[in-house]
Amino acid sequence: MTHFSLFASTRTPALMESYLSIALTVACLVTNLGRLTPSPLAVSGLGQTRHQPVAVKQPYYRVKDRTSGYANITRYTPALETSKIHKDANVHYWAHALLSSTYPFIDCALSMSSEPPPFEIPHVRFVDAAVAITHSEGTTVQVRSGKTKYSTVRSCYLVEELIKVDAEEEFIKYIHNSDAKPLPDPDDPHFPLAEFFVFTQHVQYKITGGLAIISDFQGSGDLLTDPQILTHP
Ligand SMILES: Nc1ncnc2c1ncn2[C@@H]1O[C@H](COP(=O)(O)OP(=O)(O)O)[C@@H](O)[C@H]1O
Ligand SMILES: [Mg+2]
Repeated sequence: MTHFSLFASTRTPALMESYLSIALTVACLVTNLGRLTPSPLAVSGLGQTRHQPVAVKQPYYRVKDRTSGYANITRYTPALETSKIHKDANVHYWAHALLSSTYPFIDCALSMSSEPPPFEIPHVRFVDAAVAITHSEGTTVQVRSGKTKYSTVRSCYLVEELIKVDAEEEFIKYIHNSDAKPLPDPDDPHFPLAEFFVFTQHVQYKITGGLAIISDFQGSGDLLTDPQILTHP
């Protein structure tokens, strides 16, 4: 997982310009569309080109306004935001690895089979992702123990390769983390891919010795994002 440090003295982070909100509703991560230009450019993963379109995610919670009853979107403190983003990034990192390691298992089974399967094997992966931290002049902040510490961190984001979503390719939830069954119905064109993800869960269960599987499969085309990992499923 790459870390980008963004030094900014104005309200807008210098290297990452968020200009269009694409999803802002019930969940706890706001996703915005942004552009990423690290300096120097990255040699692999995210940020190899200038102005790369990216999804920029930031955690939030809601605070109910007693007068209006409206639940306002509220940012966590920079310290909490950083800890939550690192947790998400870690899950993403492990899911990326778990899904990738499904393919050697498939290749091994194919090499032992006398004929190829009567269907095409989907080649899917989790998006490339990175943690981006913006810094400004330092301030003294209070940490959980009640002590104070000096910090320059102003905000933290999960930055992801942008998944193409349009009239032909919608964003699909294939498997929810509260149910082992695919979400699309059997007559849905996305059902075969969802079924493939169920298969990959069995492979992950086997290769981790029953320790962990990916759940909450979602994305579009051959790209996935926002996974969960279930331990001791
Ligand atoms: N990498 C991405 N590229 C394009 N759109 C994305 C990407 N990640 C998320 N989205 C969009 O933002 C929505 C919410 O993002 P997600 O990470 O799934 O957060 P949550 O499930 O917590 O709301 C998705 O349903 C999808 O429409
Ligand atoms: Mg999601």
